[in-house]
Amino acid sequence: MGEYHIRGGRRLRGELRVRGGKNAVLPMFAAMILNGAECVLHNCPRIRDTFISAEILRCLGCKVTIEGNTVVVNSSGARDWHIPEELSGEMRSSVIFMGGLLGRFGQADISYPGGCELGTRPIDMHIKALAAMGTFIETGERLLCQTKGLTGARIPLQFPSVGATENIMLAAVLAKGQTKICNAAREPEIVDLQGFLNGMGADIKGAGTDTIVINGVEKLHSVEYCAMPDRIVAGTYLAAAAITGGELWLTGVTPSDLIPVTSAFTEMGCRIAEVENTITLKAPGRLHRIPHLATHPHPGFPTDMQAPLTATLSLAEGTSVVKENLFSSRNGHIIGLQRMGADILEMQDNRSFVIRGVENLQGATVEATDLRCGAALILAGLAAEGNTVVKESIYVERGYEQIELALQKVGAEISFK
Ligand code: UD1
Repeated sequence: MGEYHIRGGRRLRGELRVRGGKNAVLPMFAAMILNGAECVLHNCPRIRDTFISAEILRCLGCKVTIEGNTVVVNSSGARDWHIPEELSGEMRSSVIFMGGLLGRFGQADISYPGGCELGTRPIDMHIKALAAMGTFIETGERLLCQTKGLTGARIPLQFPSVGATENIMLAAVLAKGQTKICNAAREPEIVDLQGFLNGMGADIKGAGTDTIVINGVEKLHSVEYCAMPDRIVAGTYLAAAAITGGELWLTGVTPSDLIPVTSAFTEMGCRIAEVENTITLKAPGRLHRIPHLATHPHPGFPTDMQAPLTATLSLAEGTSVVKENLFSSRNGHIIGLQRMGADILEMQDNRSFVIRGVENLQGATVEATDLRCGAALILAGLAAEGNTVVKESIYVERGYEQIELALQKVGAEISFK
C-alpha cells in the first residue's frame, strides 16, 4: 500500500491542468454498455476508478482500450450481465451499471456496491425507481434484477440523489415511452451524462434542472465525447494554493460549475480571477474564517469539498463552523487533522465541526480513510511544519491522477512511496 511523504511549508505557485471528472466519467462507463457500438471518451482521468470501470466492461465482454486520456470501448460483443463481487465491491458507482445492463439485456446481477466509507449509503431510491419502470429486483446477498421490458414512468425522488438520477436516465434511454424524473439531482455531471447519452442517440431534456424528461428510443449508435473537468480536483488544487499562501492558475476548468467553491475561497480572503476556462487563486497573508458553511446538493457547496475545506479552515484566523448535510459520517479527516495540531471540535452528530483556526500545523503520520479525507490530509501536510506521511494512498488514487506529480510541478515537496 503506498503513502505520500510531504515536507510542508512551501508556497505553491504555477499552472495546473485539470482533467475530466471522476463523477462525470463513471456513469458514462455504465452507459457504454447500452449502445452495442463504439464509444470514444476523451479527457478521461487516469485514476483507479477509471481502471476498475474498464475492467467491469471487459468482464461483460466489451473491448476496451485506454491510451493516455482517451478510452475506446466497443460493446457490440458484450454478452454478460454479471459483475463480479471483487469489482463492484471496489466502487460505489458500480450500482449505476444496473440501469445500463437492464437497458441492454433486461437483466443485471451485481453485488452491493462498495466505495468510500461515509456512513450508511442506501440504494433504496435506485431500487424503487427501477421497480416502477417494470423491473423485478431480488435483494439478497446480490442484487438480481430482471425485466420483461422497461417502461417509462413518472418518478418523484424523495431526495435529489446523483446516483439514482443517473441510474434512471440509463434505464430510461431504451425504455418504452416517456420517463419523467421529478426532484432530479442538478449536478453538472448529470448535464454531462445527458450530453453523452444524447450523443449516442438518446432523447433526454432537462438535465441541470429538477425535472428530466427521457423519451425512450429504439436504437442507439456510436459516440465520441469529451468529459467535463473535475470540479473537486479543481477545488482541491485551489485549496492547495489557499492553505500554502500561494498562487495557482488552473486551466481546463469550467468556472461557472465551481461558483459554490470559489465563493467560499473568496469569503476566506482569496482573490479569484476567472477568464474563459481558467481560474486563478491568490491567497491572502492569513485566511479568513467562514462563520457558517454547510454542504448541500448542487448548486450548494459540494460535500466532496467539505474535507479539503475543513483542512484549509484549520489555519484560518478565527472560528469557523462546517456542517455536513449529505452523509452521516463524512468525518474521517477530523482525527488526522487533530493529530496535526488542528483545533477542531466534532459535535455529537458527527456532522458539525467547530474549527478554531491555529497559527501552524505540525507534520505527523496520518491515515486516509476515504478519498476526500486523503486529499484533506495531503493539503494539511503541504502547510504543516516538518514531515507528514499520509498512509493508504489507494483512496486518493481512486480520484486524483498522480496528485504528487501535479503538486511537485507547482513547488510542493511531496513524493509517493
Ligand atoms: C455522488 C458522487 C459523490 C458525491 C455524492 C453527493 C459519484 C460517483 N459520486 O454519490 O462523490 O459525494 O454524489 O454529491 O458521482 N441516498 C439514499 N438512498 C438512495 C440513494 C442515496 O438515502 O437510494 C442518500 C445517500 O445516503 C446520501 C444522499 O442520498 O445521504 C446523497 O447521495 P447521492 O446523491 O445518491 O450520492 P452518490 O450518487 O452515491
